[in-house]
Amino acid sequence: MSDQISRRGFLQTTMAGMVTAGAAGGLGEAATESAGAAATGGGVVAAESGKLAVLGGSPTRTAPFPSWPLLGDVEEKNLLEALRSRRWNRMEGGIVARFEKVWAEKLGVRDCLATSSGTSALACSVNALEIGPGDEVIVPPYTFVATINAVLMQHALPVFVDTDRETMQIDAKKIEAAITPRTRAILPVHLGGSAADLDTILEISRRKRVPVIEDACQSHLAEWRGRPVGTYGDLGCFSLQASKNLNSGEGGVVVGNDQKLIDICRSFHNQGRGQADTSFAYVRNGDNRRMTEFQGAILMAQLTRLDEQARLRDANAAHLTSLLRQIPGITPAKMYDGCTRNAWHLYMFRYDPTRFKGLPRARFLQALKAEGIPCGGGYSPLYREPFLENTLNSRAYKYVYTARQLADYRERLQCPENDRLCSEAVWFTQTMLLGTRQDMEQIAAAIVRIQQQAEDLIKG
Ligand SMILES: Cc1ncc(COP(=O)(O)O)c(C=O)c1O
Repeated sequence: MSDQISRRGFLQTTMAGMVTAGAAGGLGEAATESAGAAATGGGVVAAESGKLAVLGGSPTRTAPFPSWPLLGDVEEKNLLEALRSRRWNRMEGGIVARFEKVWAEKLGVRDCLATSSGTSALACSVNALEIGPGDEVIVPPYTFVATINAVLMQHALPVFVDTDRETMQIDAKKIEAAITPRTRAILPVHLGGSAADLDTILEISRRKRVPVIEDACQSHLAEWRGRPVGTYGDLGCFSLQASKNLNSGEGGVVVGNDQKLIDICRSFHNQGRGQADTSFAYVRNGDNRRMTEFQGAILMAQLTRLDEQARLRDANAAHLTSLLRQIPGITPAKMYDGCTRNAWHLYMFRYDPTRFKGLPRARFLQALKAEGIPCGGGYSPLYREPFLENTLNSRAYKYVYTARQLADYRERLQCPENDRLCSEAVWFTQTMLLGTRQDMEQIAAAIVRIQQQAEDLIKG
């Protein structure tokens, strides 16, 4: 692919402060930013001049980005071993237990429980903290629905705290105002591989004595002040679902330093049995949230690739950011100072149509896809989706909450910053960051090309 782009006249220059997007209008703010990017080695890209692909021209790029997951002999060997062992259940085999030990050591955490999914990890955690009917849990609106479902399954109320548009994380400064005597937990999400503002969240948690469950489902190996996210809260949850940076098709993990809490999670996930028990001695209500040995076998193999992939994503994301920051109207998501490592599960930025001659985001996304750059618009406002209103109207909720309580709750469902973000975000997936530096340059070049021809696109 890198050959293809040079054949087709891809240019790169390192001229500080120069933006090649002709249609962009004045340089102003962007020029100041690009000077910084140039100083750190960022370049300015020039786009192909031909007609945009969406208008019938040739695309910037035709080669696919790296496929996912990456696999090799080690996955096959591990899976065959698990298969031939005939011990496919974790209570008989030892692979899942080995994975738990390795993941706990890697994160520097006391204990770890593998589960059937990230959603299961969250379910175990909210159960361990005895969150139930009548309780409130602080959540972000900019997340996957599983974060909210974990609360609703307990017949508790998810209290949405608005999003910080710049980082796309929960706005931690607004959490305290949302805490009531019914608040039983704060459930921040480290979205897209970045980190929520843990300093502020943990300070509120300590002062208000409200436990924290970190939803780190998208943030494997991300760090806050040099320590892995997921290890700061009372419990931390990861997803190992197919799209995730560590992947076994389905799967999840709960991590924690409070042995008692992890023991409860372990018991709950195994039908309420006592510790590491296959017997019929049940000590609490529970569920079957166990991981299979096959999942464990794949994870042990995928783990051998995780660090190297994380380094590659990091290097490519830095390069992409240095390029995108120079394009007026494209604002990559910021990271909080405390976020010392981003896992880059998603690469996210905000799109400002006014710097693209008013080109609507939907049309921008369409044009970018046609240029050979897969992209999406991210989440829609979650708390406005019908599932929430339908749940509030369910028999169980009407049984637990008075009409007045539900009306008050509905009134609090307002996250204007989040709604604005939902209309302006653009996402790339982590697999794109496993490509080459030139792949990153093609992404930027495609965006510049769209910007240069935005007027034709609006007319066309
Ligand atoms: C933020 C977040 N929380 C929870 C989950 C649930 O994980 P799983 O799909 O493994 O159940 C996901 C997965 O997509 C997620 O992105």
